[in-house]
Amino acid sequence: MENNILDVDFSFISEKDELSDVLIKSTRYFFAGTSFPPDLLQEFVLACKSDENVLPAMLENVFCSPLVSHFPVAKKFQRHFFKKLLRLLEESDCEVPDKLYDIIAGSMCESDEERNFCHKIYLPEDLSENRALAIIQESVLQLSRGTTGLSVWQASCDLANLMRTMYLENKTVVELGAGCGLAGIATAAFFPTSTVYLTDFDENVIDRISSNIEINRSQNSTCHNAHVKKLDWKEGYDLDESTFGNVDVVIAADVVYDRELLRSLCVTVRRILETSRCSYAIFASTLRDSATLDSFLETLGKTHLIVFEVLRYQNSQYTLKDGISIPSETIFPFCSSFDSPTIFHKVRLSPFNF
Ligand SMILES: C[S@@+](CC[C@H](N)C(=O)[O-])C[C@H]1O[C@@H](n2cnc3c(N)ncnc32)[C@H](O)[C@@H]1O
Repeated sequence: MENNILDVDFSFISEKDELSDVLIKSTRYFFAGTSFPPDLLQEFVLACKSDENVLPAMLENVFCSPLVSHFPVAKKFQRHFFKKLLRLLEESDCEVPDKLYDIIAGSMCESDEERNFCHKIYLPEDLSENRALAIIQESVLQLSRGTTGLSVWQASCDLANLMRTMYLENKTVVELGAGCGLAGIATAAFFPTSTVYLTDFDENVIDRISSNIEINRSQNSTCHNAHVKKLDWKEGYDLDESTFGNVDVVIAADVVYDRELLRSLCVTVRRILETSRCSYAIFASTLRDSATLDSFLETLGKTHLIVFEVLRYQNSQYTLKDGISIPSETIFPFCSSFDSPTIFHKVRLSPFNF
């Protein structure tokens, strides 16, 4: 790949041996513009204290990297993060470079509201690739222009992370209610020979998906296999073989929240599965309200769909239905004051449908 002025250089991290885990994790959280868990921030401060070169290297290559300057992560997050970091560094008698004071002073004058949008930058599993895996532009507000689709939700981060464990070369994937498009864009980046359709019904959301695909095409040379299509679940009955061709997997994150929409959502999924040869759907849902989730499960049954696998992801581990847990650190961090798991339901057509 050509050398890009926005490429990042994380080589200093691999040179730090026993500190590399905490530096990698801190880098991921910062680029994703999401609050550090308290333990991670403490560990980061300890790393800065134990090696005086850590903070200057992080300032240059992570906190002030050209990539973050070009695709700024939320200013509000940056302000909180740098102020908290400064306080912890001072409390632990750590030397504070002037640059950190300059950044904090600068961040006081900037606000997200001026732009209305910010970015989340996700990095590949292997940071030595020195590039971003996916860059997502999102609204600074979770609800804007009458839609929830202009910001990234926890379920799509966890779904993107699950997608990397699959094998989808030469497969066709359809994402429903794609929002900013993180899960579909990440899938397209993981599997360059796949074809990924990102769908939504809201015009503003469709525009955002298109511009996010464009950002990743030009910045990361990925997403040439990603396409946008308008799809309203209320028109799901009309889908046929010509819409997406032979679909292998349908994915959807955080689409189970409005009981009124459950039937049309499930019918849409059923139509796509019916018009494909051998496929299934994965729903990723943040567990907020178990009554809505129960209603979803009931609607699946009524539309002749069956759940064949349930998986839960929380605190960096997957838990299977039989209680077996598998630790797995995410490369799509998301931090929320509302601590709840993401539940994955894998769904296929019921054999009793025919
Ligand atoms: C909570 S957002 C989730 C967005 C994204 N999947 C994520 O997790 O970040 C719900 C998404 O469903 C979409 N949606 C709602 N009703 C829809 C409908 N009738 N047809 C298609 N998409 C719909 C919204 O536009 C929005 O993008």
